[in-house]
Amino acid sequence: MGERRLEIDPWRIVETGFDAADGRVCRASESLFSVGNGAMGGRANFEEFFSGESLQGNYIGGVYYPDKTRVGWWKNGYPEYFAKVLNSAFWPGVDLYIGGERLDLAAPGAVVGDFRRELDMRRGLLTREFTVVLPKSGVRVAVEARRLVSMAEPELGAVSYKLTLLSGDNLAVAATAFVEGDVRNEDANYDEKFWELSSLDRDARALTMRTRKTGFEVCWGQRVAVSCADRRLSGENLSAGERVAERFEAVLSAGQSVVIEKFVGVASSLNHPAGELADAACGVAQRALEQGFGTVLMAHEAAWAERWEGGDVVIGGDERAQQGIRFCIFQLLQTYTGRDSRLNVGPKGFTGEKYGGSTYWDTEAYCLPFYLATCGEEVARQLLLYRYKQLPQAIENARKLGFTGGAALYPMVTMTGEECHNEWEITFEEIHRNGAIAYAIYNFCRYTGRQDYLFEGGAEVLIGIARFWAQRATWSEPKGRFVILGVTGPNEYENNVNNNWYTNYLAAWCLKYAIDAVGYVASRDPKHRAAAVSAAELARWAEVAEGMFLPVWPESPVDKEGIFLQQEGYMDKEQVMAEDIPVSERPINQHWSWDRILRSCFIKQADVLQGLYFFQEFFDREVIARNFDFYEPRTVHESSLSPCVHSILASLTGRAEKAYELYLRTARLDLDDYNREVHEGLHITSMAGSWLSVVEGFGGVRVGCDGRLHIAPKLPEGWSSLAFRLHYRGAILAIRVAAGEVAVSSENGVEAETVIGGDLYKIGKEEITIKIG
Ligand code: BGC
Repeated sequence: MGERRLEIDPWRIVETGFDAADGRVCRASESLFSVGNGAMGGRANFEEFFSGESLQGNYIGGVYYPDKTRVGWWKNGYPEYFAKVLNSAFWPGVDLYIGGERLDLAAPGAVVGDFRRELDMRRGLLTREFTVVLPKSGVRVAVEARRLVSMAEPELGAVSYKLTLLSGDNLAVAATAFVEGDVRNEDANYDEKFWELSSLDRDARALTMRTRKTGFEVCWGQRVAVSCADRRLSGENLSAGERVAERFEAVLSAGQSVVIEKFVGVASSLNHPAGELADAACGVAQRALEQGFGTVLMAHEAAWAERWEGGDVVIGGDERAQQGIRFCIFQLLQTYTGRDSRLNVGPKGFTGEKYGGSTYWDTEAYCLPFYLATCGEEVARQLLLYRYKQLPQAIENARKLGFTGGAALYPMVTMTGEECHNEWEITFEEIHRNGAIAYAIYNFCRYTGRQDYLFEGGAEVLIGIARFWAQRATWSEPKGRFVILGVTGPNEYENNVNNNWYTNYLAAWCLKYAIDAVGYVASRDPKHRAAAVSAAELARWAEVAEGMFLPVWPESPVDKEGIFLQQEGYMDKEQVMAEDIPVSERPINQHWSWDRILRSCFIKQADVLQGLYFFQEFFDREVIARNFDFYEPRTVHESSLSPCVHSILASLTGRAEKAYELYLRTARLDLDDYNREVHEGLHITSMAGSWLSVVEGFGGVRVGCDGRLHIAPKLPEGWSSLAFRLHYRGAILAIRVAAGEVAVSSENGVEAETVIGGDLYKIGKEEITIKIG
């Protein structure tokens, strides 16, 4: 056994050494090496049997289970269930016996050597190599395993597994390639099994499982080719129960190998009529079998190459930073492809159970700009349409809470549009999520210049959201202002606060933006559904927006010296700094009582600063800087979504060292396991924040108030260069920053305007180089 190490490499995540006794690390590596293709994906569980600690996880986008809610004290308005992404059939399985002894890296006495696991991010390929001395027989074998979840064929997973005998003579090797349907979720609330057998077609080697309650059907069709010394072996079909299995036998002597190539087609009732699932799954697997692993891999690599074309970020002179950002981009690209507007970006993607694979405000606040700039308008539009399609449920959700007249409250956590989160402080109070959904529409329209999205659902969503805010704000007689009481801001380390600056500001902004959107639609198409908002209602929105109370400290004058106040009463708390918390007590959410956290001034994640990030064009730099200097020392960044926002604002306000420190924390959060929770899965949505801190932070890319794309790079000291591409209004801009210059060209020749160093440039195919200060 060797000490586990992760190497720094610009394109690869490489792990050397292995210790089956360290269960936490085993599980963490399963998360880090996950592979997927937007439609499905899974943790890097070993193909062969493993008796050590493992969280088995294979997930299919959109296939969920409504796990009955479990709370201490039921409150009216709670959703009945929490929608969970389902751990589904374990498809990569290959069970091996050598001379009757089972291959198991955690078997007592097994000696594992030369262990190397690699995720080649450029190719989307997971490989694993090791040797092992089997404890009973002392026989030594070597394994080389390769796995992919095809980016070219969304319903295909493939494994190539080569076992070589390094010692021993005439030993019987039995390899069983299988798909196991009898799987569970570790986080099931009542230990229920979520799947039941629908059918097993032995001859077709097709297993169809059905989800309980939701009735999704998924079929896994397996095809296997096993060869030994270039001879194709024939297998024995052992499929039974909830398992497809084919067993192959060979007799090997030292130096000889057996190669197993297995292909699994995965077809779900989301995409096929129930009666055609087996044909679809087996068709995919059969075609792949006929092509062979090498050809399947080539198509997969070509699809990945296309994704990297738009998405790559190249950092010169800093391999740790380079690896960090590529890891983030890789994960984002394999979590969401925009092929299907029913899917979204779960905070853990296909890498773990926590957060249920559901949709959070993370998508709009963090992920949308990434997909918009790296994958293009159509992919990002799918994310907006997802919410548009769920508008009726958002209206119903608000109605249940007592709001009327088409007011919409989008859920904090959802799979179908229905709220499925059930902690009152979050479900009922974290209403700021509604604002992020409106902000995403604004962000999309200003980046693409496509105001016409307002006609395609944008304005209707904004109207529902504005109706909610207009009712949720109440008039305070003593203040003579509108107030928003009893909320939780993004900072979940305090609940039920009054007048959270971020929420109030966002609400007022939403109301104004909705008024503009209705005006825009009405002036161009008076018959449009979104034009039918009465003048009285619009006037009310304006009144609430104009009259919104925004807490500041000291009470005046904030624009000269004050800060925007987290919430009313925040300054009554003992003002201590995060750096004074002993390291042994961090993260505080794993060490302190909840009561102590709530009473403290510590902020979990960007809150006022989240608002200043969203609306940076509307504030002077000094105001942003002053608020940054106040809040950064009080923020413990115990949400993965936090350091990226702070990093961007640190860049914007010239706090270069801080910006870099926070960047590494966000980009390498999982690789370096800052929050000690990687074993549960990766923080996919915050990875979009890491990209933002490079492109918007260090690259200084932003659409300004003038509606134009501004580029104002400030590279961290150790970086010799930074290069990235942006899909922008039809152009694919290639941007390179190095040695005090920025070079920009439009790779596809579509002209685009950008402002660099205060001057406006028309960018065409020919690269132009501009000196920057
Ligand atoms: C954060 C939320 C976020 C959720 C999912 C929580 O820890 O506080 O803002 O939506 O994680 O990423």
